[in-house]
Amino acid sequence: MIQLKSREDAVWLGSRSLCGIIGFTGNGDALGIVLRGLKRLEYRGYDSAGVALLAGERIWVAKRAGSVDELIRTVGELNAPRTGVGIGHTRWATHGGVSDRNAHPHLSCHGEVAVVHNGIIENYEALRSELESRGHTFTSDTDTEVIAHLLEEELSKHGSDPKEALTRVVTTLKGSFAFIAIGSALGSRILAARHGPPLVVGYRRDACIPSSDVLSFLELTDDAIFLENESCVVIGPGNVEAWLVSGERLELKPVKVAIEVADIEKRGYVHHTLKEIHDQRATLLRSLTAELGPIDEIAKAIRSAKKVFLVAAGTSYHACLIAKYVFAEIAGIDTTPVLASEYSLHSRWVDNSSVVLAVSQSGETADVLDAVRDAKSRGASIIGIVNMPGSSLERFSDLHLNVSAGPEIGVAATKSFTSQVATLLRVALRLSGSPIPFDPQRVAEAVEEVLELEQSIAEIARELRDFKDLYVIGRGIHYPLALEGALKVKELAYVHAEGLAAGELKHGTLALIEKGTPVVVLNPHDETYHDTLSNCMEVKARGARVIGISDEHHRSYDYFIRLPRMGSKYATVLLEALPLQLLAYYLALERGAEIDRPKNLAKSVTVK
Ligand code: F6R
Repeated sequence: MIQLKSREDAVWLGSRSLCGIIGFTGNGDALGIVLRGLKRLEYRGYDSAGVALLAGERIWVAKRAGSVDELIRTVGELNAPRTGVGIGHTRWATHGGVSDRNAHPHLSCHGEVAVVHNGIIENYEALRSELESRGHTFTSDTDTEVIAHLLEEELSKHGSDPKEALTRVVTTLKGSFAFIAIGSALGSRILAARHGPPLVVGYRRDACIPSSDVLSFLELTDDAIFLENESCVVIGPGNVEAWLVSGERLELKPVKVAIEVADIEKRGYVHHTLKEIHDQRATLLRSLTAELGPIDEIAKAIRSAKKVFLVAAGTSYHACLIAKYVFAEIAGIDTTPVLASEYSLHSRWVDNSSVVLAVSQSGETADVLDAVRDAKSRGASIIGIVNMPGSSLERFSDLHLNVSAGPEIGVAATKSFTSQVATLLRVALRLSGSPIPFDPQRVAEAVEEVLELEQSIAEIARELRDFKDLYVIGRGIHYPLALEGALKVKELAYVHAEGLAAGELKHGTLALIEKGTPVVVLNPHDETYHDTLSNCMEVKARGARVIGISDEHHRSYDYFIRLPRMGSKYATVLLEALPLQLLAYYLALERGAEIDRPKNLAKSVTVK
């Protein structure tokens, strides 16, 4: 733990970060509000945390490696000032070790400015050399620290005009950043800028709360001002002024955020992840039935496009892989799923006759945003399929749909995945002009039936807890679900898991199957059933321990998780992720893993 009263105490190592940032100015206890906000932001990063408070002429800082809870405990033992102005940070490191000294906020030479930052300052080495040649002393290698020094320098020149000082600093910086700063000469004014990562201001007449995310201030206000990219902002209690570095003033309008505080609570569950798995009773029904905004315009754009790309990362990419089957089978439309981080290969085919469907829970994934920016510059129409209202992707898209899963706090995507699949299914159905081929209410009941298997899935997890490797196989539309199931096991339980197209086993991976190797076989009774069963027999013959997930039992399964009979392949697909999520959850529980915040991961990946 480091408690800094003056800049001289500070020596810490460099880091770049994803992170959550928050500030408060106004009528209230800044420390309590910032700490509670950091708890809500912890899903964005959780290896270190810190706060800075304006105490008269001084800035008080407390920061440490570890969780926000650890910071809260430590701050509780200190004599923190009571004040209405403060900032805070929760970190996900990409460079540099996790240590007290790497934690934000960072201070300027004389401790007059404190900064929290999300993103990367690409030209920080050059800036640092220049600042050093002008007499600034650096006590860290962090890119963030240059912001604090630059602000201190510019504020000393333009103290009466912090807008000018901020504009000059932002013009100097290159990279992707959102930052929030307080200064001893700024009083209750907070400076902030957005150049890439998200920044939104919670608005009240007597206070403002700039933050990475609306979830951090919902308890205080549901009025939010989403800042445009490239905004510079001065924020006071109840007033916000924003402009571009060109000087153009930006119109700001608070919007109501339609998220209930209850939606972000655990509501009696041990983990957010478990609650969110259970939420799927309601969320799937909602995603299948809610009013879908501009779906007709979207269908029209897709129909008239020469090429349709589905761009996403991680779990959202798996939803896109499922959508490829759904669009082909239901609407006869060929689509190209593209991993956002591999988009550059595909960009040459993107032009003004293309549609890019970008799928993202957070709507903030840097790789996805980079891809859509490029696609838009080539003339493509961008359709965002998002879950977080007001996200960068939603705002950047020409048209967007919300998948209606509600806030997802657990780092592992669960309910957002099934809602993405449901929403993409509805788009395909609209394209074909057909109604949903099953009763959405029946899906909600079937979710309940799968959730009733929770204890038997927990028992399977108990028996599998010591295995080092696990395989998940599926064919056709079940293949992306195998990928998704394996991803859940890796990130939640820290067990090596591989998802495979069932037919690919014999082309190599079969060599790894030996006596007792757990293999999850996704095999609902559809056109893939018999071929997958043959693949199941192949692993069985090599001694595999088979966990069958199907609506039909087979004697080759050592463990059987029964899916309800749905009479529609697409309804079954919506249910299939649930036992996989539960298996991964209980494996993680058995193995003592940090479930809501798996190590090394963050929910919103806002750097490349
Ligand atoms: C896995 C997971 C990640 C995300 C990926 C994309 O459980 O959560 O793989 O799916 O980082 O995130 P979004 O959907 O926010 O773009």
